[in-house]
Amino acid sequence: MNPYEKLLIQNKAWSADQKLADANFFGRLEKQQSPKFLWIGCSDSRVPANQITGTDPGEIFVHRNIANMVVHTDVNLLSVLEYAVVVLKVEHIIVCGHYGCGGIDAALGNKSYGIINKWLLNIKEVYKTYQNEIDAIEVHEDKVNKLVELNVIEQCQDLIKTSTIQKAWKSRNAPTIHGWAYGLKDGLVKELVNIEPDLSSINPIFRFDAEELDK
Ligand code: CO
Repeated sequence: MNPYEKLLIQNKAWSADQKLADANFFGRLEKQQSPKFLWIGCSDSRVPANQITGTDPGEIFVHRNIANMVVHTDVNLLSVLEYAVVVLKVEHIIVCGHYGCGGIDAALGNKSYGIINKWLLNIKEVYKTYQNEIDAIEVHEDKVNKLVELNVIEQCQDLIKTSTIQKAWKSRNAPTIHGWAYGLKDGLVKELVNIEPDLSSINPIFRFDAEELDK
């Protein structure tokens, strides 16, 4: 059997298993999704949101890109964020990076990757912010992993700079933002940061006027 055919056969088996375990599973999900979580993760195939959190379809709204970036010109990310926060009213946003991230590693190097260079620029900017701290680390793998952590923290901060988050914080005191780093070696998550809704905690230069947030 070729690998592609295998996917379709496994799909039939999965569907049958789900129905066997819960006859109403698809009927329930077909009607609506009401996930409590938005996941912003890396596209890396080894970091699937549902599997590593032991959750089912319907529980996590997902956006993934190279190195789990929150880029303010990325219409895809911004649309997913708006839908998750305003329509689905998620309670939590998880930005999940992972140790040994190839995107972070590439951003720390000087090879050219065609169009991907433009994406990596966003990560290089994060490196520049923490350059002294990262340069002080000797082992390359450790540099990558430090930037993985700092990048997650920085992306969480970038979320807070959006009017989408600031409006939701004002109107419904949610969502909470969490920064995670996932270990490919042991499958475990390290919590890096938890940011509770608090407009006064935002650096004033990034804070919209209160009346703007009611519009
Ligand atoms: Co990655």
